[in-house]
Amino acid sequence: MKQQIIRCNHIDKDLSRVLRNITFDGLFIVTDENTVKKCFPLIQSTPELQSAKQIIIPAGDNHKNTESLSKVWQFLSENGANRKSLLINLGGGMLTDLGGFAAATFKRGIRFINIPTTLLGAVDAAVGGKTGINFNGLKNEIGVFAPAAAVLIDSNFFKTLDLANLLSGYAEMLKHALLCDGNTTPNPLNELLRFDLDYPDYSKLNDLLFQSVLVKERIVEEDPTEQGIRKALNLGHTFGHAFESFSYEVQRPALHGYAVAWGIVCELYLSFIQWGFDKTVLMQITRFVKENYGTFAFDCKHYQRLYELMQHDKKNESDKINFTLLKAAGEIEINQTAERQEIEETLDFYRENA
Ligand code: GLY
Repeated sequence: MKQQIIRCNHIDKDLSRVLRNITFDGLFIVTDENTVKKCFPLIQSTPELQSAKQIIIPAGDNHKNTESLSKVWQFLSENGANRKSLLINLGGGMLTDLGGFAAATFKRGIRFINIPTTLLGAVDAAVGGKTGINFNGLKNEIGVFAPAAAVLIDSNFFKTLDLANLLSGYAEMLKHALLCDGNTTPNPLNELLRFDLDYPDYSKLNDLLFQSVLVKERIVEEDPTEQGIRKALNLGHTFGHAFESFSYEVQRPALHGYAVAWGIVCELYLSFIQWGFDKTVLMQITRFVKENYGTFAFDCKHYQRLYELMQHDKKNESDKINFTLLKAAGEIEINQTAERQEIEETLDFYRENA
């Protein structure tokens, strides 16, 4: 099923239009304790929502678990949801993942709409049909592929985000730009590198975001269940997930997108040594990441732990560490691997340049 992605100017009116075009029996909304206060007011005047039933779940990735999931199932069940009901998920990636999974499994699947309220959620989690929860200490361990009936994106929600959370989503936009042909005009990567993140023009951000979401949409359409080219979306994430996990171990927690930005620098360096990725572009991105995301400090005694974390990455299909690399922007090489010595050389590059 193709996911409808809607660029909104007035979320209440756009949502109303979407709801008028879907036949449903019973409307339900999941919010969390933050989005109910900061985001729900933007949609609450929508006429179709007046009879909707709402559940508020605790915010934060540590609540993306069976307990919250069970609360949503119970809420649907006790309020008479049936196979024709519709669930609206209003929140960041944690909420759309969990709400999507609750919907996809309730009575073997009811339809749902995602309204992402963070840039990271809009550019990544809410789009593409991955739903799930964390389990047994592992992220996204349980889940299913289930596309939302519609994803409504409105950058007005992002105005309340602090710079760090804006940057976190922006890293995934950088990733998408790197997956596009670098010879097009305007060049998506250059547009992102030029954008002023300190004083964001939200209308321009909305344009850039929408272009970025379309990159993901195209890739997901080609390979919805990640058998092949969808792995392109893992660019930056092998080093990135290792940095993210390590940041928690050393009690300097990094936002997901920061770890991805640092991971992109590393994986472009690996792309340079293995596939001759353009050094000028590599250095341009390295500078951009350093200026905006700062540097994640570690030294060579931490290489072993970072290597172990990469070995445990769930993207690996054998005992080799799996990477997505680039020959150039838009020239994607999935299922690549690297020797330990190349990984250490990459970490050296990161420490010396980023
Ligand atoms: N977050 C990468 C994907 O949706 O495949």
